[in-house]
Amino acid sequence: MSPGGFASGGDVTGVHPAWLPPEAMRPIGARTVSVHGDGLDTVRAEVRQACDRHGGAVVAGGADLVLTLSGVDTGPDGFVVSRDGVVTTVAAEDPAGLLYGLFHVARVGEAAFGAPHPPGTHRPAHGRRMLDHWDNVDVHPVMGQVERGYSGGSLFWDGGALRADLTRVTAYARLLAACGVNAVTVNNVNVHATETLLLTDRLADIATIADLLRPYHIRMHLAVNFAAPVADLGTADPLDARVQAWWATATDGVYAAIPDFGGYVVKADSEGQPGPYGYGRDHADGANALAAALAPHGGVVHWRAFVYDHRQDWRDRTTDRARAAYEHFAPLDGRFLGNVIVQVKHGPIDFQVREPVSPLIAAMPATDVAVEVQVTQEYTGQQRHVCYLAPMWSEVLRTIRTAGPVGVSNAGDDPFWTGHPLAQANLYAFGRLAWAPDLDPREVLDEWIGLTFPGTPDVVGETLHAVMDDSWRTYEDYTAPLGVGFMVRPGHHYGPDVDGYEYTPWGTYHFADRDGVGVDRTCATGTGFTGQYPPVLARLYESVHDCPDELLLFFHHVPYGHVLHDGGTVIQHIYDTHFAGADAVAAMRDRWAALPADLVGPAFAARVADLLDEQVRGAAEWRDQITAYFFRKSGVRDAHGRRIP
Ligand code: GCU
Repeated sequence: MSPGGFASGGDVTGVHPAWLPPEAMRPIGARTVSVHGDGLDTVRAEVRQACDRHGGAVVAGGADLVLTLSGVDTGPDGFVVSRDGVVTTVAAEDPAGLLYGLFHVARVGEAAFGAPHPPGTHRPAHGRRMLDHWDNVDVHPVMGQVERGYSGGSLFWDGGALRADLTRVTAYARLLAACGVNAVTVNNVNVHATETLLLTDRLADIATIADLLRPYHIRMHLAVNFAAPVADLGTADPLDARVQAWWATATDGVYAAIPDFGGYVVKADSEGQPGPYGYGRDHADGANALAAALAPHGGVVHWRAFVYDHRQDWRDRTTDRARAAYEHFAPLDGRFLGNVIVQVKHGPIDFQVREPVSPLIAAMPATDVAVEVQVTQEYTGQQRHVCYLAPMWSEVLRTIRTAGPVGVSNAGDDPFWTGHPLAQANLYAFGRLAWAPDLDPREVLDEWIGLTFPGTPDVVGETLHAVMDDSWRTYEDYTAPLGVGFMVRPGHHYGPDVDGYEYTPWGTYHFADRDGVGVDRTCATGTGFTGQYPPVLARLYESVHDCPDELLLFFHHVPYGHVLHDGGTVIQHIYDTHFAGADAVAAMRDRWAALPADLVGPAFAARVADLLDEQVRGAAEWRDQITAYFFRKSGVRDAHGRRIP
């Protein structure tokens, strides 16, 4: 096929491939299609465009593909697909379900029109599948338009104003619906002065965005500042009746403008944001004040558990940031109103390439908990390095009970949507795993490839799998070893700086000295963090012998000669993985260079090639700094005699 076939990620000129370009709708558009039911404007428009482009027709009856709202028992967003004789039927009980069913047919492609099969029901694992944009309305002097954004500007905001041209928001909504996302927060959890006004004076802005998201069944949520009432009342004390009334009035105003508004997201008492502790109240008091205002309208509060002391004394080895979320929130289990969702980062620290699952998730059985993952790759290569994160998320999401995943968005106004073109697959995979956590990450990647490059020869898929399948583990190999984390440059967090955070107040230390490395978080001799886990995991992590190797330095401080389960020593493992990781990146670059550029489009091919050059450079830098650092600390030579600078 010609690159022109997927030169648009949603009918937006100049935008490069994303899943579900018009080409991916060919199997639908090449057929006769009938659509039955009310409230199906988006489904009808998609079908009409596909038929106009690919030669099919919308008919009243006798169609190859029947899309129908009927009394099927799927629950919200679900759909049933069957094939009887030569007719494929998609049935759903609500318009959102039928839209998801239509996109499912696009994903399955020709196979949806193959052999007859009995009805198969598809239901999302989670009712809410949410993305949080850390987009600033004003350009922040340090963080820019998007905090930790690596994809250009915001899709919504531009230098303090709502974007004049919001065409891409519609295209974006289509992409999100096509992978199952149905809730979006459009501003940063760090709510600065201008963003505080979104709730009140600038409500029209968010109503405009909500209108663009609604056709694709995506509900708008808003990050709010806990101290918002202070401007009017001089207090934000959540137990003050005037404050509660303030939230009720503000919330009524939001629902008057956006009747299907989803709710609030709050970062409180965290990294300088105001919160209930300022009034001697706890996080249940704070969350419940906002939840009470939302409850009459059916809205929810996502209350983040990312609360810790960011002014820690590095000399104090008893304070452990990993313990913080559990200590602040576990005692509150059972005190939150029913429409509060406590939003917990998947690991106890902060989106590192390897962390254990946060113990808080299992510690609040009487509370709805949402698990937050970072689609924007702040600590995993910043969308300059290929790092396909679905295998990591799948490990977390398939094993835990949660009220629904939340992903920190990685999309922006970059022509490729995500800076690194291959980072599109992370956004796609987030939506798919939020819908179905048991999906195999490789199959999810297959889906993304099939939708993004429909009809291309096998070599495209083979190359993308070769470059992406193991890229998360490769990234882990050449960066911070064995779960220790945070050896990044302070501030922007790109590239290596082993001691960058070691003597800072942030609570992210590795404690390397001439004898050993790692954080002792055991109950026996360390910070006691292992005791926050249920007994089976607590025992596993407490034992230096049983602890999984990849988390060894997260839980234990060990000598460099400590022997891992594979028989090698910690220091040799550090050398071996760092050399292997950097070599693997060089092989990824070679593999990409062998792919004919016209198969994926020259601009796409060139952007990936440029970024792989940067990844090769970056991986070598990591390898050299990490190996040199640990050689200098330990004095132990590499068993293979490789050059360590
Ligand atoms: C990280 C990140 C911040 C962000 C914070 C959060 O610390 O570096 O930019 O604000 O997470 O999740 O709130």
